[in-house]
Amino acid sequence: MKACLTSRELIESLSFLRSQNDSVGFVPTMGALHRGHLSLIEIARKSCTCVVASIFVNPKQFGPDEDFATYPRTVKEDLAVLEEAGVDFVFLPSASDLYPEGFQTGVSNQKMSRVLCGQYRDGHFDGVLTVVAKLFGIVKPQEAFFGKKDYQQYLLIRRMVEDLSMGVKVMGCPIIREEDGLAMSSRNRRLSDTGRIEATAISKALTLVRDSFHSGENRKKELLAIFHQALAETSSITIQYCEIRDAVYLEDIEDTITQPSVMAVAVFLEGVRLIDNVELGASSE
Ligand code: PAJ
Repeated sequence: MKACLTSRELIESLSFLRSQNDSVGFVPTMGALHRGHLSLIEIARKSCTCVVASIFVNPKQFGPDEDFATYPRTVKEDLAVLEEAGVDFVFLPSASDLYPEGFQTGVSNQKMSRVLCGQYRDGHFDGVLTVVAKLFGIVKPQEAFFGKKDYQQYLLIRRMVEDLSMGVKVMGCPIIREEDGLAMSSRNRRLSDTGRIEATAISKALTLVRDSFHSGENRKKELLAIFHQALAETSSITIQYCEIRDAVYLEDIEDTITQPSVMAVAVFLEGVRLIDNVELGASSE
């Protein structure tokens, strides 16, 4: 595995491979890697001859009151994990490399970035889209791999690539969970032992919803009630939002679910914000 600290170094290394017709698969991350990230690398390795991963904690996607400064940074461990996973290149740019003095352009989504997490994280998704567009410009991958754990992010990136004709195949990959169902996240490590156990209520509630949907319940109101009732038992969890929306444009759904949809939730537990979701109906992939 080769580690590249500057975009120039990565571009030079990849231009050689490209001349050999290798297909480049790209997995962008913010580090603090866990099995969720590794699953994306495994999938990338199966369809591409060269896999590039990036680690960059992107300041543009954190709000002023969010956890940019305290976001877990474990680069040494991450590099060992990536090497073991068979990554060919890891890109570790500095903020001044990606956003040099004079940088003033960004990607902004006008619609579906404003719902779900976007209602509470002003500018977050524009920060994500801007860095992903920038990284795509440097890596120029044929395929890029994103987790459905961050469902809205995945859909927004697909939308950007389509709207701006970026020519990258965006792959949505399944959510990887702990054995007890909790969706893996770099932020889970902030939970106390008790909080960690209480957090399983989220995926349990989503599983109840999915099971009811599969048994024929397709009324939005009923499915939302099932989720709220299940979580009401865990008083330490406060729900920021729980919504059912269509799984392509994140449009609101009237009364019954008749197209591929997603129930997406964000909750707070011990001051940690956790997100999770479940697809209802055929996947949008
Ligand atoms: P990060 O949170 O590090 O996540 C990197 C990738 O790993 C994302 O595509 C995310 O959806 C995926 N991922 C995280 N947890 C997962 C899980 N439990 N199962 C499956 N996939 C999972 O998302 C970001 O970084 C950033 O916003 C980024 C896209 C890198 C732009 O800065």
